[in-house]
Amino acid sequence: MTDDCVVEMRGICKKFGGVQALSNVDLELRRGEILGLVGDNAAGKSTLMKVLYGAVLPDAGEIYVEGQKVTMRNPGDAQTHGIAMIYQDLALFNNLDVAANIFTGREYTKTLLGLSFLQKKRMHDEGEALLDRLGINIASTRLLVERMSGGQRQMVACARAIGSKCRILIMDEPTAALGVKEANTLLNLVTGLRAQGLSIIMITQRIPDVLAVGDRVMVLKGGEGQGVLEVSQCTLDNVVDLIIKGRGVQELNHLSFG
Ligand SMILES: Nc1ncnc2c1ncn2[C@@H]1O[C@H](COP(=O)(O)OP(=O)(O)OP(=O)(O)O)[C@@H](O)[C@H]1O
Ligand SMILES: [Mg+2]
Repeated sequence: MTDDCVVEMRGICKKFGGVQALSNVDLELRRGEILGLVGDNAAGKSTLMKVLYGAVLPDAGEIYVEGQKVTMRNPGDAQTHGIAMIYQDLALFNNLDVAANIFTGREYTKTLLGLSFLQKKRMHDEGEALLDRLGINIASTRLLVERMSGGQRQMVACARAIGSKCRILIMDEPTAALGVKEANTLLNLVTGLRAQGLSIIMITQRIPDVLAVGDRVMVLKGGEGQGVLEVSQCTLDNVVDLIIKGRGVQELNHLSFG
C-alpha cells in the first residue's frame, strides 16, 4: 500500500445464499481522488461499498484505512474511521425537516430540570451554515424533505454525510434520479468536496459523469474486479468495453490500467 492510499480492500468475498455477489475483489482509494465504481446491475457495486461501510459483513477479505488493518462490524465502526456513505435509496426521514435530517443520530440536546430538549435553533443555524458552505441552494432548513425534489434530497443526504466530518465519502448512484441541471450541480458539489481534501468513491451507471469529474474508474462485472482505468487516459468506449467484455479487453486495447 502506497502513502497516498487512504483505503485498501483486499480479497473481499461475499455470498448471499447461492449468489456470489463479490469474488476476491481488491480496491484502492487514493487520497483526495474521486474514484468511479461502475458496472452493470447486480455487478456487486453497492455490496462492495456496504462492506467498506460495515453494513454488510464479508465472508473473507481485509480492509485497511490509512495503512491500519480495520474491522468494520457496523456503520458506527466505519464512521469512527472517518467514512460516510450515502445510500442508493438515500434513507432520509421524509416526515422530518432538512435540519433534523442533517443532524440525525447526532442531535444537539440540552437538559433542563432533568428533561432533555432538542436544540432546534442551533441545528437550524448550523444546518444553514453547512448548506451555505457547500453551496447548496435550499431555501430553508425548515422544509420537509418529503416536499423536496430528487436533487434537493440528494443534496440533503450529502450535507448530512459531510456534516459528520467524514474524510472518505461513498456515494451510491448520486445522480441516478436527477435531471441534467441537478446532476451538474451535484457533480460540482462532489468536485468541491475533493478540493476540500475528501477522498470519494462514486458508484454510477452514468459513465460520462465519472469521465467528467473522476480521476480513476474501477469496473466490476459479475462480482469480480475487471481493472482500474485512469480517466485522463481512457475514453467512454474503453470503459463500456470493460463493463461488457471484462478484463479480456485489457490486452486487446493495450490500455493503461492505474
Ligand atoms: N441483502 C441481500 N440479500 C441477498 N442478495 C443480495 C443482497 N444484496 C445484494 N444481493 C445480490 O448481490 C448481487 C449484487 O448486488 P448489488 O446490489 O451489490 O449490485 P449493484 O452492482 O449495486 O447493482 P445496481 O446497479 O442494480 O444497484 C445481486 O445479485 C443482488 O441480488
Ligand atoms: Mg447498487
